[in-house]
Amino acid sequence: MLIDQTLAGRTILLVITGGIAAYKTPDLVRRMRERGARVRVIMTRGATGFITPLTLGAVSGEPVFTELWDRDVEQDIGHIRLAREADMVLVAPATADFMAKMAHGLADDLASTVMLATTAPVMMAPAMNPKMWQHPATRRNLETLRGDGVMIIGPEIGEMAETGESGAGRMSEPMDIAMAVEAFFAPDRSAGPLAGRHVLITAGPTHEPIDPVRYIANRSSGKQGYALAGAAYAAGARVTLISGPTGLDAPTGVDRVSVQTANDMLTATQKALPADVAIFAAAVADWRVAAASSEKLKKNGSGERPALTLTENPDILKTIATGSNRPARIMGFAAETQDIEKHGRDKLTRKGADYIVANNVTPPEGEIVGGVMGGDANMITLITADGAEPWPTMSKTDVAARLIARLAHDLNA
Ligand code: CTP
Repeated sequence: MLIDQTLAGRTILLVITGGIAAYKTPDLVRRMRERGARVRVIMTRGATGFITPLTLGAVSGEPVFTELWDRDVEQDIGHIRLAREADMVLVAPATADFMAKMAHGLADDLASTVMLATTAPVMMAPAMNPKMWQHPATRRNLETLRGDGVMIIGPEIGEMAETGESGAGRMSEPMDIAMAVEAFFAPDRSAGPLAGRHVLITAGPTHEPIDPVRYIANRSSGKQGYALAGAAYAAGARVTLISGPTGLDAPTGVDRVSVQTANDMLTATQKALPADVAIFAAAVADWRVAAASSEKLKKNGSGERPALTLTENPDILKTIATGSNRPARIMGFAAETQDIEKHGRDKLTRKGADYIVANNVTPPEGEIVGGVMGGDANMITLITADGAEPWPTMSKTDVAARLIARLAHDLNA
């Protein structure tokens, strides 16, 4: 999979402290390295109880440092140099204890000494029990650290590995941490090809209620639309992402409007106009239940089945493309399982779009789900009035970056 080398030339000094979330750090190292970063690792004594230096050495491809007066550290580079050579110091996981030490400037081992010696920006991904996270002492330390310019990512709400307790305290996912590091080093957006433009994107499925607990939905994950939102933002645009229910975090910098139904999505889209570009990546339900029940439908024991009468939803793309406030560039998607190009062309004219990104959503052989829907890769054919271009299989992130580059090029032509 091709991944943009957004961290090329950067050295990240990863400080791993002693929490159970330390087991996720090899993945974090991998995510940063695949983006081009050099990753050097320091582990506290506590961290080595959860994961071995050998593992981190293998995934980072560098020696791992553990003790302050480790002869090798001092002979090879010295802790001051280790601190100075980093473009960023990333503490993940950061325990309550380590945060307290940092807040007070204690320096009694290699990790804490480096924190005091570094002049590089510092990012921390706290991870601890929810009670510890809520404790007034931790809150005070957090404020002190923020005041010192430390960037904090997470923690997330979730279940704790040790106790099954839930609440805020779980370390952010390695991918989210890598993306936060990436965003910190992102190039100047004001020089991007979409600087000063407004890009509107619909994404995800819609949920059409049957009654207060049931709904009609589809398997769209929202990944392609969210990737487009991130790419448009990186290209300098102001981005409004109108999203149906997904499990995804909004990309950094993007304004997300969360909706449930197709009707809500249309209203939110109209409200977000004017825009220079509109991308309709949502898998909008074609139909909704004509009269959703305000009470939960109950079985009455007679074996009688409820009759659901469906009514057609508004076509959001078509409404915007044929409306008075039409964005200069409109891109639609066509999820197809057969005659992909033909259906794509038909949608281009029928809906009034400038581009249709047609993708084959046929599941892997012998299965009824899987493949592009919900997956990370996409194989598209880009259809315009000039013809159809089949693209090779790429990650959804790469598809997004190239589609945005194309839109920017055409818009600025
Ligand atoms: N779309 C929309 N509003 C709808 C239905 C679809 O904005 N109510 C948009 C989608 O976001 C996508 C494009 O139209 O960009 C194509 O959607 P698709 O569901 O493939 O098209 P349909 O019109 O539903 O065609 P069909 O069901 O015949 O495949």
